[in-house]
Amino acid sequence: MRVFLTGGAGYIGSHTLTELLGDGHDVCVYDNFANSRPAALARVRTLSNRDFEVVEGDIRQGDRLAGVMRAFQPDAVIHFAGLKAVGESAAFPLEYYENNVQGSITLLRAMDAAGCRRIVFSSSATVYGEPRQARLDESHPLAPTNPYGRTKRFIEEIIGDWAGANADASAVLLRYFNPAGAHETGRIGEDPRGTPNNLAPFVSQVAAGRRDRLKIFGGDYPTRDGTGERDFVHVIDLARAHIAAIDYAMANRGCEAINVGAGSGVTVLEMVRAFERATGRAIPYDIVDRRPGDVPASVADPARAQALLGWTARFGLDDICRSAWNWQSLNPDGYEGVDPEADGKP
Ligand code: NAD
Ligand code: WQD
Repeated sequence: MRVFLTGGAGYIGSHTLTELLGDGHDVCVYDNFANSRPAALARVRTLSNRDFEVVEGDIRQGDRLAGVMRAFQPDAVIHFAGLKAVGESAAFPLEYYENNVQGSITLLRAMDAAGCRRIVFSSSATVYGEPRQARLDESHPLAPTNPYGRTKRFIEEIIGDWAGANADASAVLLRYFNPAGAHETGRIGEDPRGTPNNLAPFVSQVAAGRRDRLKIFGGDYPTRDGTGERDFVHVIDLARAHIAAIDYAMANRGCEAINVGAGSGVTVLEMVRAFERATGRAIPYDIVDRRPGDVPASVADPARAQALLGWTARFGLDDICRSAWNWQSLNPDGYEGVDPEADGKP
């Protein structure tokens, strides 16, 4: 198949790209490198020993996007491109609405112009807001609590309306829980700019000595040990869910929202212990106040992914921590200083 990846140079995009190439698909990556580097794509070339198209561009540039798509003629689009920092979205909401929501409308128009009617969209469990039950299924009400989450909710609805208006359209909205981990080779992984907002990259950097201590946000949640509970899903499992979603979109019409999570909860302290096992190093931490906006627990009911996509998570917490550590220790500064020319030869 011919697959068009917006945001394909990012963390989840680069891992999905690797899996797509490994399965023999032809890919075009369209990314403005706002939060990623060409070096990641160079690494994917070496890893997969395959070439693919790369276009530097912004999804808000409609004419450019439509031109690239008409030339590539994709069977399906996977739409990763977007801004994703919750705190930043509260400070700069219009940036988020413009980039994520306007960018997605522009993308759908370009797809119409190029005659492509299949899309897999990167949504997020954050669309559910405050959980009303222990395990969240897709029928849980949508009540995101920050502008970032609202962009995901609005885009889901826009894509749903687009699919409703086009009888030949097929859309899969993948609601990721907490992606973590890296490719087993340690050649690609998560490379956050500045101080990581998310738990797994922060803990990795503490283990590596780049940061002194972890702050655990809240020790008084109603969970097993008082720390927040999340559903961590290995990024390679997540990548495989996209491939299953494309297969689904090829065979079915309409719009489906599907959770992508392991279906089991891990507390922050359990994650810290798992990292200690994986690294053989102590992770010093302090338990501090809760982080505003955090929910106590967020765990997927992944039954729909199993039923519709035939997908379940294969990797567990220890695999996540081992692979994250492998990436971190082989690339202490992420892709910083990696020369795409020298490093990217197949
Ligand atoms: P990422 O920042 O690593 O990747 C996003 C990519 O999109 C980057 O390469 C960035 O340069 C590109 N991009 C951003 N705006 C663009 C624009 N206007 N035009 C073209 N390219 C643009 O993030 P990620 O973790 O790989 O996330 C991918 C998607 O999954 C995002 O939409 C994110 O909201 C969603 N998501 C991520 C998580 C997570 O925890 N990582 C969880 C749920 C959902
Ligand atoms: C996990 C747990 C923190 C950092 C966010 C977004 C969500 C989705 C995934 C994109 C919580 C605790 C964290 C730290 C800590 N992204 N923590 N110390 O908040 O579940 O989800 O990323 O869609 O939309 O909201 O993930 O990794 O930030 O936090 O104690 O330094 O780790 O309080 O309990 P979260 P996270």
